[in-house]
Amino acid sequence: MGRLDDKTALITGAARGIGRGIATEFAKEGADLIIADLLIDEATRTAGELQNRYQVTAMAVPMDVTSADSITAELDNALAMMQRIDILVNNAGVAPNHLSQDEDEDDWDRCFEVNLKAIWKVSSALAPHFIENGGGKIVNIASIAGRQGGVIASYSASKSGAISITQSFAAELGPHNINVNAICPGLLWTDMWRKLEGMLIGDEADELIDRRQRFEAMLAAGCPLGREQTPEDIGKAAVFFASDDARNITGQSLNVDGGIRMN
Ligand SMILES: NC(=O)c1ccc[n+]([C@@H]2O[C@H](COP(=O)([O-])OP(=O)(O)OC[C@H]3O[C@@H](n4cnc5c(N)ncnc54)[C@H](O)[C@@H]3O)[C@@H](O)[C@H]2O)c1
Repeated sequence: MGRLDDKTALITGAARGIGRGIATEFAKEGADLIIADLLIDEATRTAGELQNRYQVTAMAVPMDVTSADSITAELDNALAMMQRIDILVNNAGVAPNHLSQDEDEDDWDRCFEVNLKAIWKVSSALAPHFIENGGGKIVNIASIAGRQGGVIASYSASKSGAISITQSFAAELGPHNINVNAICPGLLWTDMWRKLEGMLIGDEADELIDRRQRFEAMLAAGCPLGREQTPEDIGKAAVFFASDDARNITGQSLNVDGGIRMN
C-alpha cells in the first residue's frame, strides 16, 4: 500500500528536473498526477512514462504559473478529468540570466513572478477547492539560496519570499486543515544548475565536463555529506509533507542539501 494511495497531486514545473523527481516519488506511493508545465511535449512524455511504469493515472496540462487565466483554465481542465486535487506542489522556478552585479529588471521580474508570486497565484486558486474538500497539502519548493543571500540576489530574494509565504499561508489555511510546508533543495545537477554554472564559470569554460567538475568541487568544499542531491531526494521529502505522517507539521522549511546550510 502506498502512502499517497487515492490522492491526486498537481505538480508545477514537473516536465523535468526536480519536479519530475517529485512526480516519480509520488507515483511510487500511489498518487495520480497532474503534470503542469510550459513545456507541454516534455510534460506529456513524463506523464505517459510514469503512468506506464507505476500504473497511476497521469495527465499533462500546459499551465503558465505566472498567468491567472492559464491557471484557472488548466485547473478546470485537470478537475474535469481527475474530479479532485488533494496535493499541490509549487515547484516551477527560474534562475536569472545574470549574476548579481549585472542583474537587470527582467531578471528581478522573472524571478519574482515565477518563484514567488506564482506560489501565491496557484495556491490561492486551489485553496477554495481544498477548503470544500475538508483539507489539502501544499508543498513549496524554495532553495537554500533563500536561507542566505549570495551571488544571485534576485533568485535568493525570491526564494526567501517563498519561505516567508509558506509561513503566511500555513497560518491562514491551517484552520481549514491545509498543511503548507517548504523544501529547500541544495545542489542538483539539473538544467537550471547547468545554466547557473555557465554564468559562474564564464564563457571560456563552456564545456559540460568543466561545469560538472566545478559542481563536484563545490560539493566537495561545502557539503558535509559530500554527495550531490537528486530530484528523488527532494521527492521523498515532498512525499513526507504530502502524507498523513506530516499531519501536525505546517509552516516549516526543510533543507535537503547534505548539510550545506544548517539554518
Ligand atoms: N537545481 C538546483 O540545484 C536547485 C536548488 C534549489 C532549488 N531549486 C528549485 O527547484 C525547482 C525546480 O528546479 P530544477 O532545477 O528542476 O529546474 P529546471 O529548469 O530543470 O525545471 C524547472 C521547470 O519549471 C518549468 N517552468 C518554468 N517557468 C514556468 C512557468 N511560468 N509555468 C510553468 N512551468 C514553468 C520549466 O519549464 C521546467 O520544466 C525550482 O523552483 C528551483 O528554483 C533548484
